[in-house]
Amino acid sequence: MRGLFVTGTDTDVGKSVVAASICAALAARGDRVAAFKPVVTGLDEEPDEFGRDHELLASAANAGQSASDVTPHVFGPAVSPHLAAELAGVTLEPGELVAAARGQARAAGAEGASGENLLVCEGVGGLMVPITPGYLVRDLAVDLALPVVVAARPALGTINHTLLTIEAARAGGLAVAGVVMTPWPNQPTPMERSNRDTIARLGDVSVTGLPRTTPDRLAEGGAVLPVYEWL
Ligand SMILES: Nc1ncnc2c1ncn2[C@@H]1O[C@H](COP(=O)(O)OP(=O)(O)O)[C@@H](O)[C@H]1O
Ligand SMILES: [Mg+2]
Repeated sequence: MRGLFVTGTDTDVGKSVVAASICAALAARGDRVAAFKPVVTGLDEEPDEFGRDHELLASAANAGQSASDVTPHVFGPAVSPHLAAELAGVTLEPGELVAAARGQARAAGAEGASGENLLVCEGVGGLMVPITPGYLVRDLAVDLALPVVVAARPALGTINHTLLTIEAARAGGLAVAGVVMTPWPNQPTPMERSNRDTIARLGDVSVTGLPRTTPDRLAEGGAVLPVYEWL
């Protein structure tokens, strides 16, 4: 299985927009890609213009998945997955999540340019978020053996959050494919440009800006992402 694991420096930072843009870009280039998200929380909240994560990912990927195929677990409260599961009286099993992700990748079929199954997995929150009390989002990325793409804000504070995320990824043995600053402004300020250059230099990582996009123009936005260099 090949693919990418999309994490972020925080919640609400653009992981879903980036993951869906990657799926749309791969689909537009003729690859067949499946999407996965281990747990979706916050169904009690109103969705934004991009909709629920699993719905957005199901529509951006092209392996014929339904929203419920994309994620095995949904919870109402907008809290960490380990707490959402506890509140619901559900026990999440890491092995089942890994198997579910691989199963969805198989659903994509071996039609990618490489002949391997192709999966884009969106994490939950950031890398150090617990899925179960003892199993972090980072552990899932390691178990799936996927390189990570880090969604980050262009704004003040992003240097620290992004470099911490890169360090945590590498400390766990993960390869960092790249950072995506999102939404990247049409006319970035000197500080935003500096943030991007500083992260690239200190993080020794490629940084791409994803311009503001909309749910029906994901492939257009995704076309700027170097997805085949990351894979
Ligand atoms: N490239 C982008 N184009 C448009 N909106 C964006 C973009 N990147 C981030 N956003 C905004 O950020 C919000 C959070 O993004 P989302 O992908 O849902 O974050 P996460 O998955 O990390 O919680 C979105 O509702 C959207 O308003
Ligand atoms: Mg999301």
